Amino acid sequence: MQATALILAAGGGTRMRSNMPKVAFEMLGKPLVRWVVDAARGAGCDDTIVVLGHGRELVEPIVDDTTIVYQDELLGTGHAVMMAADELKARGGVVVVLSGDSPLIRPETLEKMMAVRAEHDASAVVLTFTPSDPFGYGRIVRGESGGVERIVEQKDCTDEEDAIGECNSGMYCFKVDDLLACLERLGNDNAQGEYYLTDVIGLLVSDGKPVRGVIVDDPSETHGINTRVQLAEATRRMQGRINTQLMLDGVTMIDPTLVWVGPDVEVARDVELWPMTFLMGSTSVGSGTRIGPNTRVTDTVIGEGCVIDESVVIEATIDNGVSCGPRAYLRPGAHLCENAKAGTHVEIKKSTIGKGSKVPHLSYIGDTVIGEDVNIGAGSITCNYDGKAKHKTVIGDRTFVGSDTMMVAPVTIGDDALIAAGSVITRDVPDGALGVARERQRNIEGYTAKREENDD
Ligand code: UD1
Ligand code: CA
Repeated sequence: MQATALILAAGGGTRMRSNMPKVAFEMLGKPLVRWVVDAARGAGCDDTIVVLGHGRELVEPIVDDTTIVYQDELLGTGHAVMMAADELKARGGVVVVLSGDSPLIRPETLEKMMAVRAEHDASAVVLTFTPSDPFGYGRIVRGESGGVERIVEQKDCTDEEDAIGECNSGMYCFKVDDLLACLERLGNDNAQGEYYLTDVIGLLVSDGKPVRGVIVDDPSETHGINTRVQLAEATRRMQGRINTQLMLDGVTMIDPTLVWVGPDVEVARDVELWPMTFLMGSTSVGSGTRIGPNTRVTDTVIGEGCVIDESVVIEATIDNGVSCGPRAYLRPGAHLCENAKAGTHVEIKKSTIGKGSKVPHLSYIGDTVIGEDVNIGAGSITCNYDGKAKHKTVIGDRTFVGSDTMMVAPVTIGDDALIAAGSVITRDVPDGALGVARERQRNIEGYTAKREENDD
């Protein structure tokens, strides 16, 4: 049967106090609504529809692989689902309704909800939980037989209903046809003057349709995010889930509360992640590598047996046995081949550092190809930008570049060459040659004494 996910995400999120819509906020580098889309996919939903309203232009690019419908006026969760009625009708089957601001939901929980619906051929399944403080949530009213009868919103509760502990998570699985039939009958005669999706449950029950409640095992999965405080709490929970799994899989962390790993990062066995390390995006780390402390890595492939110490690494490639830092900055397109080194205060952009080559101290290397077993002396810089365009530098194998060399690109230095320290290299240097480009030193004998004589 076709299973469609419908994600309600039109709300602005007033309590975030932001110009950005709430669902665009990120948790471990991934926008909230994206977590929900991915959970639905993970649960096996064939297709996703997202309802957008506030700040839609900022959310659209995040969910550009889904069907987007708009809700111009926020008239309630039932109204939001109405905006997707035509899309749902065209698809049929079942729909899993989710909130764009509840990113902790696990795919397994959605699978379970769908399985319960199928098992009982239910018209609806509602996911419920029992929070320590139920204030603000819709209450699950169960009948004498224990079945779900209806949901009452906090603001519409009688004192008796207010005392109910079981609450509505805002996540459901419906048979599309039964949902659509009830949507047309929703009214807004309630405390908030809204069309409540929750009223669909009561309507189905009064029609004699089977409705089930599934109690979530881990209540944190249902936590919605309304404030930045809750965003931090949710981030901490997801960090805990990810890091616990990594440690069980063989990754060492001195303090897992001080390591942040995004959901799409792969970390191999026997990796050590030291405090204040952030691994984000599509990063992967090979076995035996140590990262941190104080390191940020984004969208980078790191090989085995590397050491990345106090560095920032973005869209780079790091092969096996590389040493990086302390305090290196590897920018997009930096490729450090096997056993290469980018040392202290070294910045590398769009450049290849060949096998075994070293850039140990205080250098900038940009738009450069360096061969194997090259040594770049301290403070050497490729001058790749003339103010208008970027130019390339090429350095051959086994070449030694003395300290404080300026390589003014475009320039090529051959294999087995030697560059004298302090040179400004503006012309190519052939294989095996010594390149010297600096003032010859002269010493003026007796200068100090002469100066003192003049002062008298
Ligand atoms: C809703 C439920 C409540 C449940 C709670 C769980 C209703 C009437 N109530 O309450 O029973 O306990 O979730 O968190 O459904 N949205 C739209 N358009 C709208 C209104 C809301 O897209 O017109 C979206 C919001 O952006 C959000 C989701 O629907 O992602 C839930 O809306 P929210 O206002 O947070 O619902 P609650 O009032 O908290
Ligand atoms: Ca509301």
